[in-house]
Amino acid sequence: MTGLSDDREVVQRILDHIDNRTTDLGEACWREPVENYVSEKRFAAEMHLVLRRYPTPFCPSAALPDAGSYLAREAAGTPILAVRGDDGRVRAFRNACRHRGTMLAEGAGCEKAFVCRYHGWTYALDGALRHVPHEYGFPGLDKNERGLVPVSAVESNGLVFVTQERSGITGAVDAIPDLFYPSHRLLGCSEEEVVTNWKIVTEGFLEGYHIRSTHRETFYPIQYDNLNVVERFGRNSRIAFPYRRIEKLRALPPEQRSVQAMLTYVYHLFPNVMVATFPYTILMVVLEPLAIDRTRILTYALTDRTSRPEDDQEPRQRSQDFLLAGTVEDRAVARSVQRGLGSGANEIFEFGRFEAAIGHFHRSLHALIDDAPAVRAEPARARRA
Ligand code: FES
Ligand SMILES: [Fe+2]
Repeated sequence: MTGLSDDREVVQRILDHIDNRTTDLGEACWREPVENYVSEKRFAAEMHLVLRRYPTPFCPSAALPDAGSYLAREAAGTPILAVRGDDGRVRAFRNACRHRGTMLAEGAGCEKAFVCRYHGWTYALDGALRHVPHEYGFPGLDKNERGLVPVSAVESNGLVFVTQERSGITGAVDAIPDLFYPSHRLLGCSEEEVVTNWKIVTEGFLEGYHIRSTHRETFYPIQYDNLNVVERFGRNSRIAFPYRRIEKLRALPPEQRSVQAMLTYVYHLFPNVMVATFPYTILMVVLEPLAIDRTRILTYALTDRTSRPEDDQEPRQRSQDFLLAGTVEDRAVARSVQRGLGSGANEIFEFGRFEAAIGHFHRSLHALIDDAPAVRAEPARARRA
């Protein structure tokens, strides 16, 4: 039960906002100390107390379509290997050989087993250590004790969630609606690195107050400035960005109004993932903090369109180019905020009532960090002999 409005209600709220020249308003402004964007201590707390303890969307299920499909990447600084087993279950492991620590896989692919390229220790898809070359050189080695070190992985609503540290946080996955279906297939994944704090990049997705100023020639001609439906579910949010052609729906009875190609939904899946719907694709955007001022952005593109991919090629490319132009503008303002941190001009950033989803994001971060036990200074990940 997510409590999100159905599409018809969202359309009606948007049409009412157009008529009344209004937008959704949060109850209050949010003031976030600028210190929280520049403090290494705070960054460490975000990594250790939130990103590693929270059930975090790791990849779409469609990225692991078959038995043996794997995906290896860092999540909150930890190399993680997620793999679909012969039993169809997705498992995730700390991506390091139990001999001398070589990573077992990089990128994505499909394997029957993971063979370490250093000395050939071999692990099954369920992480069990199956084979050690010249095993007589390791007297007393108990192979049952040297399987890959698992982290919690849950597959739900077409997403794979990974939780690295035990935390007792409950309900996070249940709060998330169905976003991907078995019919969704992966078109590809792109990666970029930006010199910007991960929270500043996140904030750029979560409001439509900047549409006219930042996206004057790109999004503004087809979208509205500062006209959104903003909803919360659990620690997450959904922001609807309507396209101007949504007004055509006025001619239809409410039960026939579909949001398809009439708006973009941006789902913020706390803490660091966005899912955004477009006419031809649905994007899952993962923001991986690399340092306090550096973020890797991974974008998985999926589609559930039944038409042949080559038939969609041209319109999809047009829509991608268009989106890219807007994204470049978003990256530029985010970078500018990052550089502006050094000015010393602000002690707080003030997020207005239009920017309520950002306030919700910070409120959730604060709650998890402030309610947690003392921040551990060092990465507490050495474990299990
Ligand atoms: S480090 Fe993997 S087999 Fe030696
Ligand atoms: Fe933007």
